[in-house]
Amino acid sequence: MDLVKLWRNTPVAAIKGNDVDISRDVIISSARQGLTKAIAILGLKRSDYVGMPDYVGHCIIDFIGRKATPVPIKFLPQKYASAVLLYDQWGWQKTSIARLELKKKYQNIRIIWDRVDSLPLSFGDEAVNSENEADIQIFSLSKTLGAGGGGLVWIAGKGWLQQGTCLDASLIDGLSNILNDANLNKQFYSKIDGFIRNECICNTPNLDKWLRNNNINTATKKENSLRRDRIKIFDSTIMKSLPNWMQNQIRNDMLPAPGIFPIAVNGDIDIIAKDIYAKFRVGIPSVYHFNFNDSYLNPGWRKVLAIPLHSEIETSLLVNIVRYMHDNSIVVNNYTR
Ligand SMILES: Cc1ncc(COP(=O)(O)O)c(C=O)c1O
Repeated sequence: MDLVKLWRNTPVAAIKGNDVDISRDVIISSARQGLTKAIAILGLKRSDYVGMPDYVGHCIIDFIGRKATPVPIKFLPQKYASAVLLYDQWGWQKTSIARLELKKKYQNIRIIWDRVDSLPLSFGDEAVNSENEADIQIFSLSKTLGAGGGGLVWIAGKGWLQQGTCLDASLIDGLSNILNDANLNKQFYSKIDGFIRNECICNTPNLDKWLRNNNINTATKKENSLRRDRIKIFDSTIMKSLPNWMQNQIRNDMLPAPGIFPIAVNGDIDIIAKDIYAKFRVGIPSVYHFNFNDSYLNPGWRKVLAIPLHSEIETSLLVNIVRYMHDNSIVVNNYTR
């Protein structure tokens, strides 16, 4: 049995027809690059503090830190805060009340809304409808569709950022030369390849190929519906234990579909995670922290199991995981306690 990863391994297929699609001109190489670009668009510099959520991956701190100074939200000084990165973890979308709470505490703050795990019905419609919620919205085609790269940056009042403003042809050539240098690659292939592709992402052959053959809008709708089919497998007992804002998102098909289901458990979570990993080959054998509060300012972190909802996971496998959780009485009754 192959390991099912938290995010898709292979791209969603949606053959290109004559349907309208998002233009290639607005797809930048990655959402990470979009983060650095967002800082530049907002005119922020090293002396500007940008509030960051707890537990975000190093690449986010890195790409914000290339131009401004990341500071954990809980230490962000009210007087000197320039911007905040709001992350809807795993595509679970906090309500506008949570964003208002933040704007109330930090007046004149700029908001970069990291929506990389959210899969709406349409990226374009979603960005337009949320126009007043943030200065910048960022989406990812790799995290949602497994497209091999691809980020979208929506600037309030302007629309999608044009790809041309992000391209640095000489850098791309230089990095491509390193990737193609057989001598270097022989010795350090995985490190060089991993660093350039994962940390810089300058050339995106897989994304380019996918975009030539697939329609983003069709792929988005298709994967959105498949993610939502998988959410339904988590039965009413599990559903009811979630806070209301999460239950509302499950019920409201117009909101983006989340990508990973967080399960808080009774018992030793490390042992349970390892057991699930060994039995079902899902996710990775470790635990994550998830914020169950509808608040970016006052997070309610809990250790959770992370169960992927993307369509590489078979629904029958999910049914078995849910049954295993009930048989072993490991689901907690109320996550907010
Ligand atoms: C919270 C968050 N924002 C942004 C990114 C970057 O997305 P991409 O892989 O499309 O560059 C990631 C990637 O892991 C992420 O976890």
